[in-house]
Amino acid sequence: MPPLVAIVMGSSSDLPVMKAASDLLERFDVPYEIRVLSAHRTPEETLAFARGAADRGLRVLIAGAGGAAHLPGVLAAVTMLPVIGVPVAGGALGGLDALLSIVQMPRGIPVATVAVDNARNAGLLAVRILALSDPALTAKLRTFHEELAADVRSQDEQLRAQGERLDE
Ligand code: RP5
Repeated sequence: MPPLVAIVMGSSSDLPVMKAASDLLERFDVPYEIRVLSAHRTPEETLAFARGAADRGLRVLIAGAGGAAHLPGVLAAVTMLPVIGVPVAGGALGGLDALLSIVQMPRGIPVATVAVDNARNAGLLAVRILALSDPALTAKLRTFHEELAADVRSQDEQLRAQGERLDE
């Protein structure tokens, strides 16, 4: 199947973080592609990719970058597709630099920004966007949420059982 989501990063050094997005998309059977494109080092390729993304059938772009993290914003500047930015930690400022760079977009050019290093949530947000027009994907999301809730209830039961033993 042709990819619906692109996962883009400024350097392959971002891959350990961005892999969480691809793992999540695989879990939901969403076809995706992965690219290394740099807003600063390969600006022409980056712009060409973003300009052609919608025509190639892509529906959502996920972009991860660290430091002076301009990649998500540059993509959003030239495509009408939704762009989700992942601030990647690293360097002296621990990801705060990338977070502020990605989240502080100017009026009119939005980038949906997830938490530092939280590429999994970027994948989930992409699935939610795709699920708007895909009832089967919505059903999978509901199951996913039920599993999250079951996990929390299980943790609660375990802690309460420990607490009861401690009270004895
Ligand atoms: C950013 O600079 C990249 O997204 C990466 O997070 C960071 C470091 O790049 P390299 O040191 O791997 O070249 O543009």
